[in-house]
Amino acid sequence: TQRIAMTRTVVLVGLMGAGKSCVGRRLAGRLGCAFLDADDEIVKAAGLSVADIFRLYGEAAFRDCERKVMERLLTGTPCVLATGGGAFMDAETRALIQDQAISVWLRADLDTLVSRTAGRTHRPLLNSGDPRAKLQALMTERYPVYAEATVTVDTGPDSADHTTQKVLDALA
Ligand code: S3P
Repeated sequence: TQRIAMTRTVVLVGLMGAGKSCVGRRLAGRLGCAFLDADDEIVKAAGLSVADIFRLYGEAAFRDCERKVMERLLTGTPCVLATGGGAFMDAETRALIQDQAISVWLRADLDTLVSRTAGRTHRPLLNSGDPRAKLQALMTERYPVYAEATVTVDTGPDSADHTTQKVLDALA
């Protein structure tokens, strides 16, 4: 497992609330490598929050920024990389991930996603309308694409440590 992670970046994909950042941090700890969060890197590069990028420049501009940041992160030192839920939906980014890294889809059920995203306001896609309906629509649209990930790990209401162990087992 360790050798896999040291030679190739492990990229976590999945919907908002699937636990990509939480599990990613733990996974990096277990593998003894760095953890990077693509959203954090976008915020650093832009000097604006994700919500502000969406509000001031729109989603397309956020996606452009995301694509550039992903390209930089994927060509750097192998690490564990958590992505924003939309990153793997971009054909160019997805091709780069599949070429350079091991992709891991954290597949979660709707109730888990709804409860993990509830009360958080930093996600522009969930800030208008009914979050459950929005997450359901995103599941329908994105799950067939996330399914292209090299590894799929199911995650329900279980702890981040438990899911981390499942990822390690799947990578072994
Ligand atoms: C998005 C997910 C967010 C963030 C942005 C858009 C998406 O990241 O990149 O709000 O399109 O699913 P998380 O999945 O880390 O919440």
